[in-house]
Amino acid sequence: MSEVVLSVRNLRLEYQSRRGKVQALRGVSFDLYAGETLALIGESGCGKSTLGFALIGLTPGTARITGGSVTLADAGGRRDLLTLPEAELRRLRWSEVALMLQAAMGAFNPVIRIQDHFLDTARAHGLTDRGEVLRRAHRMLTAVHLDADRVLRAYPHELSGGMRQRVLLALGLLLRPRIVILDEPTTALDILTQRTIIDLLRELKREFQFTLIFISHDLSLAAELADRVATMYAGQLVEIGEVHAIFERPHHPYTRGLIRAVPTLRGEREELTSIPGSPPDLVNPPPGCKFHPRCPYADGACRSAEPALSAVDGHLVACHHWQRVLADAEGR
Ligand SMILES: Nc1ncnc2c1ncn2[C@@H]1O[C@H](COP(=O)(O)OP(=O)(O)OP(=O)(O)O)[C@@H](O)[C@H]1O
Ligand code: SF4
Ligand SMILES: [Mg+2]
Repeated sequence: MSEVVLSVRNLRLEYQSRRGKVQALRGVSFDLYAGETLALIGESGCGKSTLGFALIGLTPGTARITGGSVTLADAGGRRDLLTLPEAELRRLRWSEVALMLQAAMGAFNPVIRIQDHFLDTARAHGLTDRGEVLRRAHRMLTAVHLDADRVLRAYPHELSGGMRQRVLLALGLLLRPRIVILDEPTTALDILTQRTIIDLLRELKREFQFTLIFISHDLSLAAELADRVATMYAGQLVEIGEVHAIFERPHHPYTRGLIRAVPTLRGEREELTSIPGSPPDLVNPPPGCKFHPRCPYADGACRSAEPALSAVDGHLVACHHWQRVLADAEGR
């Protein structure tokens, strides 16, 4: 494997809520390798967006990071983003690590033209040469197959959802970040536009050579784009593996359930039968393995001891009974 560009260890984050502390990240650890696409999958509410934020040292709203480290490695050495002063972190955002959020519309200020979004982002990073910034913006908008002259003069509401998503990509790539985190970039889009964005991402990655974390609950998109897949459940990664291994030989019952919930070619969906029940309340998660109330393999050990993410079989998995899960997946 290539070099590690981002190393996350035991990352913990809590939200304050009226009901108590929401344990949204409960000890997340993984390495991100240069040039790869890592898809982060899991049901709604499992902590994917929270992880995206935390990776750039942002703690949304009432959140507080309660432990762990996020180490960025570059020519300048290794830096833990969670201990950097805010001013330095702000410089790194967009220029080293860019996060593009779910809901592209919310990313734009409705009363300023697209070109000013580019100018403002650049200025915040010390790029004040207007001509140079607009040349770069033009180049990036063209790379995402938009009519750059028209789009630069437009207001956000004058663009379609798919166009805004592409503008957001161009904006995110303006400062040539090494790591790009995309949170559900295609959710609000129709299937044809989704396909265009996925093709475009592949093309942009080839041209600009960034490392990509792709957050999605659409497994078929993840399968197409990713080199590796990480499954998240109740604030923790429960499986990480190479994309074909994840889809062909899932080691965790939750990953297996997610895969079986993907509509078949005939369009059938067995979502509700594949994973009964719903994710746990993160204010009061169950003891032991957080998946045990929904897991067909659960036994006494699962109810009392939470399995750690361990390397088995070229894979990382957190399950006491992965051998049985794998045997069943292979015998299906
Ligand atoms: N501001 C907040 N205050 C309290 N709890 C929050 C807050 N934001 C998120 N949460 C909780 O944290 C958990 C993780 O939320 P997050 O948005 O990261 O999930 P997600 O995996 O991105 O879901 P989705 O697929 O729906 O986008 C959820 O249980 C959610 O209810
Ligand atoms: S540890 Fe037990 S309950 Fe958890 S996923 Fe594995 S078999 Fe299921
Ligand atoms: Mg989300």
